Amino acid sequence: MDLWQVKDEAEEAAVSLEGKKAILVPYMREHVPKYHEWMKDPALLLATGSEPLTLDQEYEMHLSWTKDPNKHTFIVLDKELIKGGFLNGEPHIEAMVGDVNIYMNDLDDLQLAEIEIMIAEPKSRGKGLGEDSALMMMAFAVNKYKIQTFRAKIGESNIASLKLFHKLGFKDVSYSEAFKEVTLELQVTDRSFVDLIA
Ligand SMILES: CC(C)(COP(=O)(O)OP(=O)(O)OC[C@H]1O[C@@H](n2cnc3c(N)ncnc32)[C@H](O)[C@@H]1OP(=O)(O)O)[C@@H](O)C(=O)NCCC(=O)NCCS
Repeated sequence: MDLWQVKDEAEEAAVSLEGKKAILVPYMREHVPKYHEWMKDPALLLATGSEPLTLDQEYEMHLSWTKDPNKHTFIVLDKELIKGGFLNGEPHIEAMVGDVNIYMNDLDDLQLAEIEIMIAEPKSRGKGLGEDSALMMMAFAVNKYKIQTFRAKIGESNIASLKLFHKLGFKDVSYSEAFKEVTLELQVTDRSFVDLIA
């Protein structure tokens, strides 16, 4: 067995990251019902390229993500919605507004990660949480997994996401006519990225 591939779930479960506006906590079992409610929204399914799942399937998906050494998911908490102060290890469902994940899905290049971000709660959009969360996720991925290239695949009509990734310094690298989707990439050695996470 390749030991490098074994995911240290206990270690990862303890990690939470605090930014200016958001706190990223590990995706816990307690988060699944609210996540499942979000993913009934056709607009979110379309924006994230996801299929509708039953609650049981969502629990299975959560388990498989937790065990996959090449996938790392955090739940985004809106700091303004946290009640009674942040407690590490608590799910803080009251402040859960979205998720951000990376997936090292190119087995020939494990230093390339696809990144996805969703701020599902409309009341928490447009407050900087998406940008804050994406930056924290990328800084974490560079430090912990030595990621060199980030890739995002965004539907051509998803203007908010395209603008967010362009703002972060991603450049368009290809377009799929079949999926009506733009692929964007960012190299961590790009000067603009170094400045962003400094
Ligand atoms: C796209 C999304 C992640 C943005 O998150 P957010 O927290 O609302 O965005 P932020 O407040 O951090 O905005 C950061 C930048 O994104 C862009 N942006 C965000 N919302 C925008 C909108 N409605 N229209 C145009 N640009 C927008 C802007 O460039 C903005 O920077 P600015 O405020 O300096 O103009 C969020 O709207 C979302 O989850 N949408 C649905 C799911 C989705 O499309 N996910 C992407 C699949 S990978």
